[in-house]
Amino acid sequence: MVDTPILELHGVTKRFGPLTALKDLSFHIGEGEVIGLLGDNGAGKSTTVNLISGIHKPSSGHLSVDGQQTMFTCRSDSADAGIETIYQNTALVDSLSITRNIFMGREITNGLGFLKQGEMREIAMEVLKSAVHISGIDSPDKLVGELSGGQKQAVAIARAVHFKRRVLLLDEPTSALSVRETEALLNQVLRLKAGNVSSVLVTHNIYHAYQVCDRFVIMSHGTKVFDVAKEDTSITQLTEYVVLT
Ligand SMILES: Nc1ncnc2c1ncn2[C@@H]1O[C@H](COP(=O)(O)OP(=O)(O)OP(=O)(O)O)[C@@H](O)[C@H]1O
Ligand SMILES: [Mg+2]
Repeated sequence: MVDTPILELHGVTKRFGPLTALKDLSFHIGEGEVIGLLGDNGAGKSTTVNLISGIHKPSSGHLSVDGQQTMFTCRSDSADAGIETIYQNTALVDSLSITRNIFMGREITNGLGFLKQGEMREIAMEVLKSAVHISGIDSPDKLVGELSGGQKQAVAIARAVHFKRRVLLLDEPTSALSVRETEALLNQVLRLKAGNVSSVLVTHNIYHAYQVCDRFVIMSHGTKVFDVAKEDTSITQLTEYVVLT
């Protein structure tokens, strides 16, 4: 029997006024599967990510989680379904520490409602050490505003790891990263996959996608033009699809 996908899009159309950004888009994300969502500028990749993360609602069509039709009306709906979105300038607060960012909205408190700072700090330290191998993060007390783009992503990923997210959405995560940070991020995706976490990686860099993805969904003008397993394609073929469709 084939496993039920964690997440599916069924014939999703998204209109912004007169513009149709997505047209009858269907694809699925399996458990522990890494999908490369590729396509030229304006193909509809970010719109797709925003739909899955609950920022946009479909004009028609629907999403399902674990085979159940679902409607996300805001980001916390998708978070409740175990979906975490990692943007370049991901949703972190610069003026707060790494620890506070990891626990934002899910703080550990005692019976009186006071924050258990020590406990959160210890967990943050542990998560940063064990799950995120990005250089230069030595203390969970550091303000997020003092971190580089790659380090911020590492914090966002640490949060996803700690709260046991099931799907990571990464929209152009490597666009402003150093070579080392990029390698660390891609390795992190693979490490999460080993723990059965799925990812959707949106990127213009087909080499990065090819390094970690199991399957590729190529979009053009808001529709899917190609959906292929890594073993059935090549970098050359993927490039042709992205450039020529
Ligand atoms: N909030 C919005 N309002 C109106 N139009 C939008 C909105 N968001 C996206 N669009 C339009 O939808 C289409 C798809 O945009 P989208 O951002 O999804 O593309 P993309 O594949 O992520 O491109 P890129 O690779 O440049 O990031 C574009 O024509 C864009 O102008
Ligand atoms: Mg985009």
